[in-house]
Amino acid sequence: MGLIRKLKLSWLPSSILLGMFLCWYMLHLIHNTPGRDPDPHIDELKNFPVLFDSSAQLRIIVLTYNRSKSLKRLFDSLLMADYQGERIVLDIWVDRSINGEVHNETVQVANELQFVHGEKNVYVRGQHAGIVNQWLRTWKFSDNPTEICIILEDDLTVSPVFYRWLKSVHTTYKDDDRISGFTLQGVGSIYSGPSALENVNVSKKHLTYLYSMPGSWGFSPKLDQWKEFITWWEKTSLDKSFHPLVPNNLATVWYSENRRQGNAQNIWTMWFIYFNWKFHKYVLYPNIQPKNQGFSNNWQEPGLNHYGHAGLPPTGPLVVKWLPEFDKLSPLPPIVFTNGTILNELNRKITV
Ligand SMILES: *[C@@H]1O[C@H](CO)[C@@H](O)[C@H](O)[C@H]1NC(C)=O
Ligand SMILES: *[C@@H]1O[C@H](CO)[C@@H](O)[C@H](O)[C@H]1NC(C)=O
Ligand SMILES: *[C@@H]1O[C@H](CO)[C@@H](O)[C@H](O)[C@H]1NC(C)=O
Ligand SMILES: *[C@@H]1O[C@H](CO)[C@@H](O)[C@H](O)[C@H]1NC(C)=O
Repeated sequence: MGLIRKLKLSWLPSSILLGMFLCWYMLHLIHNTPGRDPDPHIDELKNFPVLFDSSAQLRIIVLTYNRSKSLKRLFDSLLMADYQGERIVLDIWVDRSINGEVHNETVQVANELQFVHGEKNVYVRGQHAGIVNQWLRTWKFSDNPTEICIILEDDLTVSPVFYRWLKSVHTTYKDDDRISGFTLQGVGSIYSGPSALENVNVSKKHLTYLYSMPGSWGFSPKLDQWKEFITWWEKTSLDKSFHPLVPNNLATVWYSENRRQGNAQNIWTMWFIYFNWKFHKYVLYPNIQPKNQGFSNNWQEPGLNHYGHAGLPPTGPLVVKWLPEFDKLSPLPPIVFTNGTILNELNRKITV
């Protein structure tokens, strides 16, 4: 429609970059999801037969399929992290191919990992689950309301202080119902307007900001909000004629493009973008400068190295040291609009 056309016209020069990005994005989808995903409403995917220990303070959920080397690299970074002696559970979810095959090497690596910080569970899917179910049907809500969960795809590594960061943000923003979750990634990108695809640029004096776009390079949902989201998604996605289209947002353009190719069902993030947009929710991002340091790092796997070229930000360096100010985060972070404009919450002023 008009908005999309306007968007496209306004950066005709970037259309080549956009094309490259689309290629990358589709490759990414293909890589993560071997074939078409099953209907997420089938019972086996809903009622996964898993026994959950509800006494964990942190549950680490790792999503993997056939990247055993990546899994090992992520695991090594998880081993090095500081858990402050707390009770950690590591759940590794191994998906199957569309034909039901399991990648033996990945299962073997998952089984052999020695997790010295707590309990480790390996769940090999009974059938192909796909990226949506891997994301949305792995955190079975325990009866422990204080459990923190972090969902990690296997191509990431984490900062040694990522758990301290998660604890700090979950504590500081516990009662802020606008916040649906926390991302570990240190870089956000702009999704509309003339600066689309550039990095979000928030003054270094703010250590956090609110943004309606999800950061999937390590995402830690808030328990009650995640329940709300999943319930809403389950209900809404039953209506096959409904599509989560957010106006004036690049993600919608990509989603629609993928839908034409029959791949849209793989994109769980679009549902979350829509949820945030419709219910005025935000994801909290770290803003650790210089260089957009983050608490996760995305390795662009061989053959998929189109990130930088496409204009989307490459991952910044990992935060390796805990600073005292990370324990004293501002309760009123600025809000970033999808066009990159910043609303300073403290004085309600728009600043650039
Ligand atoms: C993983 O699976 C995808 C799709 O089935 C395939 O293209 C890719 O080569 C596989 N990667 C590895 C490392 O086995
Ligand atoms: C994976 O392991 C299963 C069971 O051990 C075996 O039947 C299958 O042939 C193996 N597949 C490959 C590709 O090695
Ligand atoms: C971010 O904004 C500041 C001023 O607000 C500017 O000086 C700086 O160049 C910007 N950085 C980037 C990478 O655009
Ligand atoms: C960016 O979006 C905000 C909120 O929709 C709007 O108030 C602002 O005018 C926009 N800024 C630009 C430069 O388009």
